[in-house]
Amino acid sequence: MEGSSKPAESRTVETPIGTFVIDLLTEDLGGVYPGMRRYTVEIHYAGQSVYHYVINSYEQPPHTLFSTDEVANIVFGRLIYDIKARPEHYTKALPPVRRALPGAAYDVVILQGSPRQFGNSATLAGWCADEASRQRRSVHIFPVHEMDIRPCSGCYACYNQGVCPVEDDMPAIIKAIEEASLLIIATPVYTNTVPAALKAVIDRGQALHARRTLLSTPIAAKGLLIAVAGRPGPEPFECVRSVTGAFMRNIGIHPAEEITVDRMDTRQDVRAIEGLEDRVRAAVASLLKVSGETKAHIG
Ligand SMILES: Cc1cc2nc3c(=O)[nH]c(=O)nc-3n(C[C@H](O)[C@H](O)[C@H](O)COP(=O)(O)O)c2cc1C
Repeated sequence: MEGSSKPAESRTVETPIGTFVIDLLTEDLGGVYPGMRRYTVEIHYAGQSVYHYVINSYEQPPHTLFSTDEVANIVFGRLIYDIKARPEHYTKALPPVRRALPGAAYDVVILQGSPRQFGNSATLAGWCADEASRQRRSVHIFPVHEMDIRPCSGCYACYNQGVCPVEDDMPAIIKAIEEASLLIIATPVYTNTVPAALKAVIDRGQALHARRTLLSTPIAAKGLLIAVAGRPGPEPFECVRSVTGAFMRNIGIHPAEEITVDRMDTRQDVRAIEGLEDRVRAAVASLLKVSGETKAHIG
Protein backbone atom coordinates (compact mmCIF):
# COMPACT_ATOMS: atom_id res chain seq x y z
CA MET A 1 0.00 0.00 0.00
CA GLU A 2 1.66 3.21 -1.13
CA GLY A 3 0.76 6.39 0.71
CA SER A 4 -0.75 9.23 -1.27
CA SER A 5 2.03 11.45 -2.62
CA LYS A 6 1.76 15.23 -2.93
CA PRO A 7 4.58 17.71 -3.62
CA ALA A 8 4.85 19.96 -0.58
CA GLU A 9 7.38 22.16 -2.34
CA SER A 10 8.62 22.54 -5.90
CA ARG A 11 11.29 24.90 -7.24
CA THR A 12 12.68 25.61 -10.67
CA VAL A 13 16.41 26.32 -10.69
CA GLU A 14 17.95 28.00 -13.74
CA THR A 15 21.62 27.26 -14.41
CA PRO A 16 24.07 27.85 -17.30
CA ILE A 17 23.57 24.23 -18.42
CA GLY A 18 19.79 24.22 -18.25
CA THR A 19 16.70 24.15 -16.05
CA PHE A 20 16.39 21.88 -13.01
CA VAL A 21 13.21 21.12 -11.03
CA ILE A 22 13.46 20.05 -7.41
CA ASP A 23 10.45 18.59 -5.58
CA LEU A 24 9.85 17.80 -1.93
CA LEU A 25 7.19 15.08 -1.65
CA THR A 26 5.52 14.09 1.58
CA GLU A 27 3.56 10.86 1.92
CA ASP A 28 1.29 9.71 4.69
CA LEU A 29 2.25 6.11 5.52
CA GLY A 30 -0.04 6.02 8.55
CA GLY A 31 -1.59 2.89 7.09
CA VAL A 32 1.74 1.11 7.58
CA TYR A 33 2.61 2.44 11.04
CA PRO A 34 0.90 5.10 13.17
CA GLY A 35 2.09 8.56 12.23
CA MET A 36 4.65 7.34 9.71
CA ARG A 37 5.52 9.91 7.03
CA ARG A 38 7.91 9.57 4.13
CA TYR A 39 9.75 12.53 2.59
CA THR A 40 11.36 12.39 -0.84
CA VAL A 41 13.53 15.14 -2.31
CA GLU A 42 13.85 14.58 -6.04
CA ILE A 43 15.79 16.50 -8.69
CA HIS A 44 14.74 16.41 -12.36
CA TYR A 45 16.89 17.48 -15.28
CA ALA A 46 16.17 17.15 -19.00
CA GLY A 47 13.03 15.15 -18.24
CA GLN A 48 14.87 12.61 -16.07
CA SER A 49 15.14 11.95 -12.37
CA VAL A 50 18.78 12.61 -11.51
CA TYR A 51 18.90 12.52 -7.72
CA HIS A 52 16.73 11.57 -4.81
CA TYR A 53 16.94 11.54 -1.05
CA VAL A 54 14.37 9.60 0.99
CA ILE A 55 13.77 9.62 4.73
CA ASN A 56 10.85 8.49 6.88
CA SER A 57 9.77 9.63 10.30
CA TYR A 58 10.51 6.25 11.95
CA GLU A 59 14.21 6.55 11.04
CA GLN A 60 14.75 9.23 13.67
CA PRO A 61 15.29 8.09 17.26
CA PRO A 62 13.72 10.18 20.05
CA HIS A 63 15.59 13.36 21.04
CA THR A 64 17.09 13.79 17.57
CA LEU A 65 18.22 17.39 16.99
CA PHE A 66 16.07 17.84 13.88
CA SER A 67 12.70 16.33 13.10
CA THR A 68 12.37 14.32 9.89
CA ASP A 69 10.34 17.17 8.42
CA GLU A 70 13.17 19.61 9.24
CA VAL A 71 15.81 17.25 7.81
CA ALA A 72 13.89 16.94 4.54
CA ASN A 73 13.54 20.72 4.32
CA ILE A 74 17.24 21.26 5.08
CA VAL A 75 18.19 18.78 2.35
CA PHE A 76 15.74 20.47 -0.04
CA GLY A 77 17.25 23.93 0.62
CA ARG A 78 20.84 22.65 0.54
CA LEU A 79 20.26 20.93 -2.81
CA ILE A 80 18.83 24.10 -4.38
CA TYR A 81 22.07 25.82 -3.37
CA ASP A 82 24.17 22.91 -4.65
CA ILE A 83 22.42 22.72 -8.03
CA LYS A 84 23.23 26.39 -8.54
CA ALA A 85 26.86 25.92 -7.42
CA ARG A 86 27.65 22.76 -9.44
CA PRO A 87 24.82 21.81 -11.78
CA GLU A 88 27.04 19.39 -13.72
CA HIS A 89 26.89 17.03 -10.70
CA TYR A 90 23.16 16.52 -11.22
CA THR A 91 22.87 15.55 -14.89
CA LYS A 92 23.10 11.75 -14.87
CA ALA A 93 19.81 9.78 -14.85
CA LEU A 94 19.35 7.66 -11.72
CA PRO A 95 19.45 3.91 -12.18
CA PRO A 96 16.09 2.31 -11.27
CA VAL A 97 15.72 1.35 -7.60
CA ARG A 98 16.80 -2.29 -7.23
CA ARG A 99 13.60 -3.67 -5.80
CA ALA A 100 14.07 -7.10 -7.35
CA LEU A 101 16.19 -9.25 -5.05
CA PRO A 102 19.01 -11.66 -5.82
CA GLY A 103 18.46 -15.36 -5.14
CA ALA A 104 16.32 -18.24 -6.29
CA ALA A 105 12.63 -19.13 -5.96
CA TYR A 106 11.38 -22.35 -4.31
CA ASP A 107 7.94 -23.81 -3.61
CA VAL A 108 8.98 -24.71 -0.08
CA VAL A 109 11.34 -22.66 2.08
CA ILE A 110 12.69 -24.12 5.31
CA LEU A 111 14.40 -22.00 7.96
CA GLN A 112 16.50 -24.39 10.04
CA GLY A 113 17.21 -22.64 13.33
CA SER A 114 19.64 -24.96 15.14
CA PRO A 115 23.40 -24.46 15.04
CA ARG A 116 23.72 -28.26 15.26
CA GLN A 117 24.18 -29.41 11.68
CA PHE A 118 23.15 -32.96 12.52
CA GLY A 119 20.76 -32.15 15.35
CA ASN A 120 17.06 -32.78 15.67
CA SER A 121 15.88 -29.62 13.89
CA ALA A 122 18.16 -30.52 10.98
CA THR A 123 16.64 -34.02 10.84
CA LEU A 124 13.12 -32.58 10.92
CA ALA A 125 14.03 -30.07 8.21
CA GLY A 126 15.46 -32.92 6.14
CA TRP A 127 12.22 -34.92 6.42
CA CYS A 128 10.27 -31.85 5.30
CA ALA A 129 12.59 -31.26 2.34
CA ASP A 130 12.41 -34.89 1.31
CA GLU A 131 8.62 -34.89 1.49
CA ALA A 132 8.42 -31.69 -0.55
CA SER A 133 10.61 -33.31 -3.21
CA ARG A 134 8.37 -36.38 -3.17
CA GLN A 135 5.46 -34.03 -3.82
CA ARG A 136 7.44 -32.72 -6.80
CA ARG A 137 8.00 -29.32 -5.25
CA SER A 138 11.24 -27.36 -5.30
CA VAL A 139 12.61 -26.87 -1.80
CA HIS A 140 15.50 -25.20 -0.04
CA ILE A 141 16.75 -25.41 3.53
CA PHE A 142 18.34 -22.21 4.83
CA PRO A 143 20.71 -23.20 7.70
CA VAL A 144 20.41 -19.74 9.20
CA HIS A 145 23.15 -20.23 11.80
CA GLU A 146 25.71 -20.85 9.04
CA MET A 147 24.69 -17.81 7.04
CA ASP A 148 25.84 -14.22 7.25
CA ILE A 149 22.73 -12.60 8.70
CA ARG A 150 23.33 -9.52 10.79
CA PRO A 151 20.83 -8.38 13.42
CA CYS A 152 18.32 -5.70 12.42
CA SER A 153 19.74 -2.26 13.19
CA GLY A 154 16.29 -0.69 13.59
CA CYS A 155 17.09 1.93 10.95
CA TYR A 156 13.61 1.66 9.35
CA ALA A 157 15.23 2.49 6.00
CA CYS A 158 13.38 -0.49 4.48
CA TYR A 159 10.25 1.70 4.69
CA ASN A 160 11.82 4.15 2.23
CA GLN A 161 11.90 1.94 -0.86
CA GLY A 162 11.23 -1.61 0.34
CA VAL A 163 14.90 -2.56 0.39
CA CYS A 164 17.02 -3.32 3.48
CA PRO A 165 20.33 -1.44 3.26
CA VAL A 166 22.29 -4.20 5.07
CA GLU A 167 24.32 -6.24 2.59
CA ASP A 168 24.51 -9.87 3.72
CA ASP A 169 22.73 -13.17 2.97
CA MET A 170 19.25 -11.97 4.01
CA PRO A 171 18.00 -10.83 0.56
CA ALA A 172 18.07 -14.46 -0.66
CA ILE A 173 15.79 -15.47 2.23
CA ILE A 174 13.45 -12.54 1.59
CA LYS A 175 13.27 -13.39 -2.10
CA ALA A 176 12.62 -17.09 -1.34
CA ILE A 177 9.82 -16.34 1.15
CA GLU A 178 8.16 -13.95 -1.29
CA GLU A 179 8.02 -16.69 -3.91
CA ALA A 180 7.20 -19.69 -1.66
CA SER A 181 3.90 -21.49 -1.17
CA LEU A 182 5.01 -23.05 2.14
CA LEU A 183 7.32 -21.62 4.81
CA ILE A 184 8.56 -24.10 7.40
CA ILE A 185 10.42 -23.08 10.54
CA ALA A 186 12.26 -26.01 12.13
CA THR A 187 13.85 -24.87 15.36
CA PRO A 188 14.96 -25.85 18.84
CA VAL A 189 13.79 -23.91 21.88
CA TYR A 190 16.66 -21.85 23.29
CA THR A 191 16.01 -20.14 26.63
CA ASN A 192 12.28 -20.32 25.98
CA THR A 193 12.57 -18.69 22.56
CA VAL A 194 14.28 -19.27 19.20
CA PRO A 195 18.11 -19.35 18.79
CA ALA A 196 19.78 -15.99 18.09
CA ALA A 197 20.48 -16.55 14.37
CA LEU A 198 16.84 -17.40 13.69
CA LYS A 199 15.72 -14.39 15.74
CA ALA A 200 17.97 -12.23 13.55
CA VAL A 201 16.20 -13.59 10.45
CA ILE A 202 12.82 -12.96 12.08
CA ASP A 203 13.70 -9.35 12.94
CA ARG A 204 15.19 -8.73 9.50
CA GLY A 205 11.88 -10.00 8.12
CA GLN A 206 10.69 -6.47 8.86
CA ALA A 207 11.91 -5.69 5.33
CA LEU A 208 9.33 -8.21 4.08
CA HIS A 209 6.65 -6.29 5.94
CA ALA A 210 7.93 -3.08 4.33
CA ARG A 211 7.87 -4.63 0.87
CA ARG A 212 4.42 -6.10 1.40
CA THR A 213 2.92 -2.85 2.64
CA LEU A 214 4.79 -0.35 0.44
CA LEU A 215 5.23 -2.28 -2.80
CA SER A 216 2.15 -4.51 -2.42
CA THR A 217 4.44 -7.54 -2.86
CA PRO A 218 2.10 -10.47 -2.29
CA ILE A 219 3.16 -13.28 0.06
CA ALA A 220 1.01 -16.37 -0.38
CA ALA A 221 2.85 -18.97 1.70
CA LYS A 222 1.28 -21.07 4.43
CA GLY A 223 3.28 -21.47 7.61
CA LEU A 224 4.39 -24.60 9.47
CA LEU A 225 6.25 -24.46 12.79
CA ILE A 226 8.18 -27.51 13.95
CA ALA A 227 9.87 -27.02 17.31
CA VAL A 228 11.87 -29.27 19.63
CA ALA A 229 12.56 -28.67 23.32
CA GLY A 230 14.58 -30.38 26.01
CA ARG A 231 12.05 -29.98 28.78
CA PRO A 232 8.65 -31.67 29.08
CA GLY A 233 5.24 -30.19 28.45
CA PRO A 234 3.82 -27.29 26.44
CA GLU A 235 5.49 -24.42 28.35
CA PRO A 236 8.85 -24.32 26.46
CA PHE A 237 6.98 -23.69 23.19
CA GLU A 238 4.85 -20.73 24.31
CA CYS A 239 7.33 -18.01 23.41
CA VAL A 240 8.53 -19.79 20.25
CA ARG A 241 4.93 -20.03 19.05
CA SER A 242 4.35 -16.37 19.85
CA VAL A 243 7.58 -15.16 18.16
CA THR A 244 7.27 -17.26 15.01
CA GLY A 245 3.53 -16.54 14.79
CA ALA A 246 4.15 -12.78 15.04
CA PHE A 247 6.82 -13.07 12.33
CA MET A 248 4.54 -14.97 9.99
CA ARG A 249 1.52 -12.75 10.52
CA ASN A 250 3.68 -9.62 10.12
CA ILE A 251 4.60 -10.75 6.63
CA GLY A 252 1.13 -11.98 5.72
CA ILE A 253 1.59 -15.71 6.30
CA HIS A 254 -1.10 -17.65 8.10
CA PRO A 255 0.61 -19.95 10.63
CA ALA A 256 -1.47 -22.96 9.61
CA GLU A 257 0.09 -25.85 11.45
CA GLU A 258 2.41 -26.67 14.34
CA ILE A 259 4.30 -29.75 15.51
CA THR A 260 6.03 -29.53 18.87
CA VAL A 261 8.29 -32.23 20.26
CA ASP A 262 9.14 -32.00 23.94
CA ARG A 263 11.39 -34.03 26.31
CA MET A 264 14.35 -34.11 23.93
CA ASP A 265 16.70 -34.03 26.95
CA THR A 266 15.67 -37.62 27.60
CA ARG A 267 14.58 -38.69 24.14
CA GLN A 268 17.75 -37.29 22.53
CA ASP A 269 16.99 -38.26 18.93
CA VAL A 270 13.80 -37.43 17.00
CA ARG A 271 14.41 -40.45 14.76
CA ALA A 272 13.66 -42.69 17.74
CA ILE A 273 10.17 -41.22 18.26
CA GLU A 274 7.64 -43.55 16.77
CA GLY A 275 5.35 -42.00 14.17
CA LEU A 276 7.00 -38.57 14.20
CA GLU A 277 8.53 -38.76 10.74
CA ASP A 278 5.19 -39.88 9.26
CA ARG A 279 3.42 -37.05 11.07
CA VAL A 280 5.86 -34.45 9.77
CA ARG A 281 5.64 -35.80 6.24
CA ALA A 282 1.84 -35.84 6.40
CA ALA A 283 1.78 -32.21 7.57
CA VAL A 284 4.00 -31.09 4.70
CA ALA A 285 2.01 -33.10 2.16
CA SER A 286 -1.33 -31.78 3.37
CA LEU A 287 -0.15 -28.15 3.45
CA LEU A 288 1.04 -28.51 -0.11
CA LYS A 289 -2.36 -29.83 -1.15
CA VAL A 290 -5.11 -28.06 0.76
CA SER A 291 -5.37 -25.29 3.30
CA GLY A 292 -6.39 -26.24 6.79
CA GLU A 293 -5.47 -25.85 10.43
CA THR A 294 -4.43 -28.64 12.75
CA LYS A 295 -2.22 -28.89 15.79
CA ALA A 296 -0.10 -31.85 16.80
CA HIS A 297 1.80 -32.20 20.03
CA ILE A 298 4.03 -35.22 20.42
CA GLY A 299 4.12 -35.64 24.16
C1 LIG B 1 21.51 -22.65 24.69
C2 LIG B 1 20.39 -23.63 24.86
C3 LIG B 1 19.22 -23.22 25.44
C4 LIG B 1 18.16 -24.11 25.60
N1 LIG B 1 17.03 -23.66 26.21
C5 LIG B 1 15.99 -24.52 26.36
C6 LIG B 1 14.80 -24.07 27.00
O1 LIG B 1 14.67 -22.92 27.40
N2 LIG B 1 13.78 -24.96 27.14
C7 LIG B 1 13.88 -26.25 26.72
O2 LIG B 1 12.93 -27.01 26.87
N3 LIG B 1 15.01 -26.70 26.09
C8 LIG B 1 16.07 -25.87 25.92
N4 LIG B 1 17.21 -26.30 25.30
C9 LIG B 1 17.27 -27.70 24.80
C10 LIG B 1 17.04 -27.79 23.29
O3 LIG B 1 15.83 -27.20 22.90
C11 LIG B 1 17.03 -29.26 22.85
O4 LIG B 1 18.25 -29.88 23.20
C12 LIG B 1 16.77 -29.46 21.38
O5 LIG B 1 16.50 -30.82 21.12
C13 LIG B 1 17.98 -29.07 20.55
O6 LIG B 1 17.59 -29.11 19.20
P1 LIG B 1 18.63 -29.44 18.02
O7 LIG B 1 18.97 -30.90 18.17
O8 LIG B 1 17.86 -29.18 16.80
O9 LIG B 1 19.82 -28.57 18.19
C14 LIG B 1 18.27 -25.44 25.15
C15 LIG B 1 19.48 -25.86 24.54
C16 LIG B 1 20.52 -24.96 24.40
C17 LIG B 1 21.80 -25.43 23.74
